[in-house]
Amino acid sequence: MSEPWFVEAFKAGYLDVYPHRDLAEAKREAEFLQAHGVGGIVVDVCCGYGRHCRALRDLGVRTFGVDLSTDLLGRAIELYPDLRGRIVCGDARALPFATSSADAAVSLFSSFGYFGEAGDLGLLREVGRVLRPGAAFVLDLLNPDRVRADLVPFSVSSGAGLEIEERRSLADGGRRVIKEVVHRARDGSIRSWREDVRLYSAAELEPWLGEVGIGFEAAFGDFDGSAVSPRSPRQILLGRRR
Ligand SMILES: C[S@@+](CC[C@H](N)C(=O)[O-])C[C@H]1O[C@@H](n2cnc3c(N)ncnc32)[C@H](O)[C@@H]1O
Repeated sequence: MSEPWFVEAFKAGYLDVYPHRDLAEAKREAEFLQAHGVGGIVVDVCCGYGRHCRALRDLGVRTFGVDLSTDLLGRAIELYPDLRGRIVCGDARALPFATSSADAAVSLFSSFGYFGEAGDLGLLREVGRVLRPGAAFVLDLLNPDRVRADLVPFSVSSGAGLEIEERRSLADGGRRVIKEVVHRARDGSIRSWREDVRLYSAAELEPWLGEVGIGFEAAFGDFDGSAVSPRSPRQILLGRRR
């Protein structure tokens, strides 16, 4: 049986598709996170190759990451060896952390909307479980309005012996965005995968957050703290565990 898309998609080639999602960007975002109450013991849910763990730790925040991708976690240890023992391979729907053990949690760069509505709610329930009362939760999502308005159906990028084709489409009446990637690697090998992300509005997520014990506090359109608008680059929700 083939693996779910969120296993196939986040192997080594993923990093070639998003080279700008780097440590420099994570450092800027970490400052915003810290200014909005992300401190103490923090869980980075779906930490990828650990760039926010690194950036938050550089600010003195005791951050622990969890991710399902052994390729990305391996890359994290190569790049940031002192994250060893602080990032763990696990499923975000069954977080490997004790109940009420975290002072904050973050889910960054569109790491939500992968598991169907029941699975997505299950992930939020897990976040609610590990947060202590008063803890902050930051959920950084695609902005659905902007994704729908700006969708580029096809693009190719190449350089340094690498070529990446991306085909994008909407499904479910615009509720999901699908990206099909063909990755021609430097060694000539070709791999393809798809990303399939449910686009959630704040209005859809607010009741779910409430259901898992997280009160909605604010929404931002980017890590500069600007308001959400149809054109804002992101949709960043800030909540607090009751
Ligand atoms: C878009 S990437 C973002 C990674 C990271 N937050 C960043 O900003 O670089 C989404 C991440 O979710 C991880 N992921 C997907 N499904 C997961 C699951 N069920 N449990 C834990 N991590 C998962 C992927 O392996 C990938 O690293």
